[in-house]
Amino acid sequence: MQWLGLDHRSALVTGASSGIGRAIAEELGRCGVAVGVNYYSGRDEADAVVGAIEAQGGRAVALGGDVAKPEDCRAMVEAVAARFGRLDILVANAGIQRDAAFTELTLADWRRVIDTNLTGAFLCAQEAVRRFRAQPPPPESKARGNIIFINSVHQVIPWAGHVNYAASKGGMKLLMESLAQEVAHEKIRVNAIAPGAIKTPINRPAWSEESALRELLELIPYGRIGEPEDVARAAAWLASDHSDYVVGATLFIDGGMTLYPSFREGG
Ligand code: NAI
Ligand code: BGC
Repeated sequence: MQWLGLDHRSALVTGASSGIGRAIAEELGRCGVAVGVNYYSGRDEADAVVGAIEAQGGRAVALGGDVAKPEDCRAMVEAVAARFGRLDILVANAGIQRDAAFTELTLADWRRVIDTNLTGAFLCAQEAVRRFRAQPPPPESKARGNIIFINSVHQVIPWAGHVNYAASKGGMKLLMESLAQEVAHEKIRVNAIAPGAIKTPINRPAWSEESALRELLELIPYGRIGEPEDVARAAAWLASDHSDYVVGATLFIDGGMTLYPSFREGG
């Protein structure tokens, strides 16, 4: 993956012990990026990600931390900089669902989802921007720093029974765009990826049973569920100078889920 020119850079990927975060950490590792592999509860899984990156000749370190806690976000950014000399890329990926019908949704589950998905992304991005400003610009990079938020098609598609999750992702959309507008003049690039249905633990009930998968595929014009690597390859491109003029953009990687598939024969 030398063609992306990412070697000698370092990154923090939050929620990187599973699913999309794991695939992004491994893809960046393959591209020569030194990776801070954040985990929340899965220490063994994070060690396995580090092992996979090292087995390919890359560099990585496992970092425990809760993105909803400012002190953890600060410590993770500092740990990457201490270990690898600097931080060039943040992938704010950590996210959870706590689903319930509207009147059954507890305040605790509302708060936990907003705290993790939205406040967590804010806190990590704030620490990353502070770090980008405090260190000398990277020697062989056009951008001074690069932030990628992992959003969702539910930044635009309303989702009954998941109002906490949809609100967190809708909030993340304007967090990303407002931050991109604020720091672009410093050559800090901020963008997002909005995946559709990707086969990971977060949506296991939607793909593990045949009937559920059949229903899900009705929503995906391209006719297959996404794999974490579909997102990871795009993340590596967004982190590289090959996307240097991409600023404040959201890249939808969803097999066409946002194309209103039920309108193919209606309207
Ligand atoms: P996942 O459940 O495998 O990954 C979520 C990760 O976040 C886990 O590793 C979990 O330990 C970590 N995490 C949870 N709370 C945390 C906290 N407080 N601090 C640090 N880490 C924490 O699921 P997936 O699919 O890989 O999710 C990754 C991101 O992708 C999430 O933001 C999710 O909303 C988003 N996404 C997923 C889609 C899918 O279909 N799988 C589609 C669109 C977006
Ligand atoms: C959710 C998944 C869901 C996908 C498509 C994601 O944001 O986390 O559970 O399958 O959107 O609806």
